[in-house]
Amino acid sequence: MRLALRLALTSVCAAAAFGAHLGAQAQAQAPLKIGLMLPATGTFAALGDMIERGFRLYVQEQGGKLGGRELQYFRVDDESDPSKATDNVNKLIKRDNVDVIVGTVHSGVAMAMARAAKDSNTMLIVPNAGADAVTGAMCAPHIFRTSFSNWQPGYATGVVATSKGYKRAMTITWNYAAGQETVKGFTEAFEKGGGKVVKDLNLPFPNVEFQALLTEIAAQKPDVVFAFFAGGGAVKFVKDYDAAGLRKTVPLMGSGFLTDGTLEAQGASAQGLQTALHYADNLDTPRNNAFRKNFALTFKANADVYAVQGYDAAQLLGAGLSAVKGDFSKRDGMIAAMSKTTVDSPRGKFTLSASHNPVQDMFLREAVGKNNEYKGVAVKALADPGRGCKM
Ligand code: BEZ
Repeated sequence: MRLALRLALTSVCAAAAFGAHLGAQAQAQAPLKIGLMLPATGTFAALGDMIERGFRLYVQEQGGKLGGRELQYFRVDDESDPSKATDNVNKLIKRDNVDVIVGTVHSGVAMAMARAAKDSNTMLIVPNAGADAVTGAMCAPHIFRTSFSNWQPGYATGVVATSKGYKRAMTITWNYAAGQETVKGFTEAFEKGGGKVVKDLNLPFPNVEFQALLTEIAAQKPDVVFAFFAGGGAVKFVKDYDAAGLRKTVPLMGSGFLTDGTLEAQGASAQGLQTALHYADNLDTPRNNAFRKNFALTFKANADVYAVQGYDAAQLLGAGLSAVKGDFSKRDGMIAAMSKTTVDSPRGKFTLSASHNPVQDMFLREAVGKNNEYKGVAVKALADPGRGCKM
């Protein structure tokens, strides 16, 4: 080849390589796109808000970046409506081209999100919804959860109810995945301990017309009632239970969502209620105290379990991004790091199970004033069985 031609070709190649390098650098520096799919309206609106605050607080504590990478947020209000969930998540995946989806609260919505995340190979971090299938039959390497499976708090409350000597229980909940699976967890532990669930009561989500069901509880007089409700529905249920005069005659227990983030609105009706959950407000550890202090300073509000779960979603993503120095194109490396990280949560340190669900202590709590106070460990290092997960 003639020298002039060879030189020309060499400089074209060098320019192309330089361009590609610049392109890769720009790519590496472009903000990572985070799709926040949470409820901003409806009975779970306050829960969505606390999750987002928790997520943003952790990012703020890291100087506004995770693993050295800026973040750009895209938001969708999922309204806790499963019938709109696929369209809503596709706004983030197909319209906004997000890299990571964080969401949501409602189990039915989360299952549609997990399906879409699997189909599109988009990374998903679930900061609340407990749908067992998300880290069970629908599990995938790029799907993670920083909250709980529905089975976990149900099972832990069943252990506590048995230890109190209750023999006949009734359950009451909304008729959707979270309610059904939480009740299933409760029943498993309660009946293993020698108790019997004599009746399951339910009503459609998000209805709050509890009167007929409360009348049935009064007629049956079980030793204990186990309830799963959350957000606005939990406020109404606890008040109605009290107003019906049942609080004095039939002890009410629940997974901790019954009284989490709701105590101010529930007032005297909730005082003394005992629940089981993976967080208690007054856990007296340096980690929890610092988290609550910073949360209160930043948002002029008290943190709750939802804020913790959002905070930990950001921590988990941060662990992945730090491992690859913010380079999202090394997603396999991120996933490996996230899978084996220990999250230093305000709830206490936790690891992830093989199906990417927290292995965590479940606490017995009692509602005192505006706090769900720590009363002891109900079940140590409880791992969801991850039924149906092949990964
Ligand atoms: C759920 O649908 O999974 C859920 C909603 C609120 C609190 C806890 C769980």
